[in-house]
Amino acid sequence: MSAATFLKEFCRNWQTVGAIAPSSPALAERMMEATGVWQAKRVLELGPGTGAFTDAISDSMPHGADYLGIELNPTFVQQLTPRFPKMRFECAGAQEFDFSQVLPPGEKFDTIISGLPWTAFPRALQEAILNNVLPHLAPGGCFATFAYFGFHQLPSGRRFRSLLHELTHGVETSRVVWRNLPPAFVYIARKP
Ligand SMILES: C[S@@+](CC[C@H](N)C(=O)[O-])C[C@H]1O[C@@H](n2cnc3c(N)ncnc32)[C@H](O)[C@@H]1O
Repeated sequence: MSAATFLKEFCRNWQTVGAIAPSSPALAERMMEATGVWQAKRVLELGPGTGAFTDAISDSMPHGADYLGIELNPTFVQQLTPRFPKMRFECAGAQEFDFSQVLPPGEKFDTIISGLPWTAFPRALQEAILNNVLPHLAPGGCFATFAYFGFHQLPSGRRFRSLLHELTHGVETSRVVWRNLPPAFVYIARKP
């Protein structure tokens, strides 16, 4: 069901959906390991889509932790909301969402998990999203996102990686997850 919805939405909005299939459980597991989400208190997910990572976050995050998912596509938001009734979803672009509306004063996210298709984005959008989101990552917090193996060498993929380096002071790369279509790996960046 979620694979069919995903493919349908890809056909309608290929530039923003950016992939023909949802991420696999193996990639979701690698994302959870990379972020240590079981220790999180406040989690932000960017581009949850049909919930491939949301499912794993919901299973892994500690009881009482807060979750916010920012998803541009209303069809995905309509499906996610009843499926994860304890989690909050907002239908918005990550580049323009006002996080101060939802964060208690002085609070930040300790974990940000992104499913956004960075290589499909122009530089201005990559910058706008990172500049809107990263100021809300707590010191010592973790930002994780994935890249499709091979596609990371495209100019837009290289540009994203160097932007992430510039804005976070250090990016680690996981091993490739071959059980994903296409194979992918995780970038993990921490805020000093
Ligand atoms: C490659 S899909 C990944 C979906 C899911 N996280 C997964 O891994 O299967 C990218 C998702 O990001 C969403 N998206 C694209 N641009 C966005 C933006 N500017 N703000 C928020 N979500 C966005 C798309 O609608 C889509 O659901």
